[in-house]
Formats: sequence, structure tokens, C-alpha cells
Amino acid sequence: MLIDPAQLSIKENYKLLTGSILPRPIALVSSRSEDGILNVAPFSFFTGISSNPPTICFSPAWKARGEQKKDTLVNIEQTREFAVNMTTVDMMQKMTACANDYPPEVDEFEVSGFTPKQSQVVVPPCIAESPINFECKLLQIVPVGRREAGGSFLVIGEIVMFHVADDLIDNYRIDMEKLQPLARLAGTAYCRLGDFIHS
Ligand SMILES: Cc1cc2nc3c(=O)[nH]c(=O)nc-3n(C[C@H](O)[C@H](O)[C@H](O)COP(=O)(O)O)c2cc1C
Repeated sequence: MLIDPAQLSIKENYKLLTGSILPRPIALVSSRSEDGILNVAPFSFFTGISSNPPTICFSPAWKARGEQKKDTLVNIEQTREFAVNMTTVDMMQKMTACANDYPPEVDEFEVSGFTPKQSQVVVPPCIAESPINFECKLLQIVPVGRREAGGSFLVIGEIVMFHVADDLIDNYRIDMEKLQPLARLAGTAYCRLGDFIHS
């Protein structure tokens, strides 16, 4: 079947993307507004893009209704700092609580029950429950697509400090079985790692 994206709705294109790009790791991004309100939100359009220096990117879309930016993006535009916290299987419930569209004045550490952990270099705290945190400084925000629902931004950040739980790391190799990362599939489906195949 050939499908011309120009003939599809935003939702149909979204379903093709999220059903094809599988599985996706989940960046739980913690940020702080210029007024000091803490925010946490999950993003699965997320990946690493450079190791020299270590650099990641993720993509907060415009909100579904109207021309409104997500709080995470607004905070990062204001402060140019954030933390990416890797999501593990046992963090799933609290992570989904952070995906609700709370007003900007709501502290999403408080509503989700996650615990803030002081960062070393940046001001926004990391998430204590996450065994791997990246403290990040903003490099660039690139607008992508239309300036409305479905359109997005690419946030590119340099990792200025890694936090890794001691029992997960040996000679800089992460024990992925111990880590138990949670991966996002399509819709409400998630999966855990298993059935490893070595080349
Ligand atoms: C597992 C998961 C992955 C998500 N990935 C993205 C994403 O990549 N981009 C995006 O714009 N929204 C994504 N969302 C939705 C946002 O988390 C949601 O809009 C959130 O309310 C944004 O919060 P904020 O306004 O506090 O930044 C995802 C939600 C979940 C549950």
C-alpha cells in the first residue's frame, strides 16, 4: 500500500509514525519556569544525536488546541536548562500522571509523587526515582513543521552531567537488564526489554 501523507489527517500521520517507530525510549524531562515552578513531562520522540559532546534531542509538539506551547518548551526557552530522566518499568504510573495537561502553575513533582533530586550543574532538579539522569544545557530549538497542532519543535541539549546508579554501571557499560527501561509503543501500549538477540 502506498500512502501519501499530504492526503492524511494529522491523527492518521501520527498513527503511522508511532506505529512504525518502535519501540521508543521515554525521556522524562524535568524543567523549572523562571518563576520557580517545577515541571515534569514524558517525551518519546527522543534520541541521542552526538557523543562529542554528548547531545540529545526531543520534540515537544504544539498543544492539540490552538497555538500554545507545552510548559516544558516554555520553561526551556526561559531558562535554557533541563534534565532528562530515563523512564523505567516501575516508573510507568507516575510517568503517565505527568502527561496530563496541567496549568503551568502546577508543580508536577507534587502531583505525580516523583521526588526532586538536586542537580550538580543546572538549576532544574533531576528525578530521584530514575536511575539515569542527564543534566542538560540547551543548544538549540528548531521549529519543525506547521505552527499549529501536529507541528513541533526539536529541542537539542548538551549533557553536562550524567548521573548513573552505582549498581547499573561497570566500565561505563550500563546493565540494561537491571535498568529495566520502559519503552513506548503505539497508543497506550508499552513494553519492557526481553528476548535479547546478539549479533
Ligand atoms: C509515553 C508518552 C510519550 C509522549 N511523548 C511526547 C512527545 O514526544 N512529544 C510531545 O509533544 N508530547 C508527548 N507526550 C505528551 C506530553 O507528555 C504531554 O503533552 C504533557 O502534558 C506535556 O507537558 P507540559 O505541558 O508540562 O510540558 C507523551 C506522553 C506520553 C505518556
